[in-house]
Amino acid sequence: MQPITIAIDGYSSCGKSTLARALAKKLNYVFIDSGAMYRGVTLFAIENECIINGIVDKEKLTQKLEQIQLRFASVEEDERKHLFLNGKDVEKQIRSMEVAGYVSEIATIREVREKLVLSQREMGKNGGVVMDGRDIGSVVFPDAELKLFVTASPEVRAERRFKELTEQGRNVTREEVLVNLMERDRIDTSRKESPLIQVKDAIVLDNTNMTPEQQLEFALQKVHELAI
Ligand code: CDP
Ligand code: CDP
Repeated sequence: MQPITIAIDGYSSCGKSTLARALAKKLNYVFIDSGAMYRGVTLFAIENECIINGIVDKEKLTQKLEQIQLRFASVEEDERKHLFLNGKDVEKQIRSMEVAGYVSEIATIREVREKLVLSQREMGKNGGVVMDGRDIGSVVFPDAELKLFVTASPEVRAERRFKELTEQGRNVTREEVLVNLMERDRIDTSRKESPLIQVKDAIVLDNTNMTPEQQLEFALQKVHELAI
């Protein structure tokens, strides 16, 4: 089978990256976590005084966009690739609640999206790629051979993310995580620039009651159906 492009979109914390990573491993494809890139720009904004007293200075950030260089690279201590921001491994920092609190607002900025979409298309131009995010099937790769739209109940999603964060030793509450993901979903679905939508040709995967293994099986089945 020719290498295809797989686009995975959906709400926050519903297992998109877990699925995309597992699919890429199984198919020997490249996995790209586009959300990590928006988180990287957000970290840059925090570290470069583009957010003052909780207010995002969109103009200032837009002017500094050329200074931002993002890349994914392998590291010795982890089988997963890490995001590097201007040469520094920021994989851990981008998963903080502070970054999660600003990222959806940063992701509404047209210039930010244009920069990241260009680089995402470049990374996936040869196919054999699984990319997850919010606008992959609608904007980044509208011609992707397989598009999945992942969803799960907000409570299950919050519980999954809470568990993940506490296992990493982060000091968060369930309530904080639930509020953050509901707020991000609200901004992501209502923004003007490339909102999260379920495109017509996407296959819906509600994984509320599925394990990561079951969701992988579901997606692999869809890949194999394409090859028939
Ligand atoms: O993993 P989680 O669901 O928490 O989110 P993420 O994939 O890391 O994405 C973080 C945020 O980046 C999302 O809430 C969106 O605001 C934004 N994002 C986006 O706008 N477009 C994408 N393709 C990916 C992420
Ligand atoms: O990328 P996204 O924000 O959509 O979610 P994720 O980071 O892939 O998954 C969030 C958490 O949910 C991870 O700890 C996964 O292991 C877990 N998960 C799960 O428990 N059951 C699933 N069916 C999918 C993910």
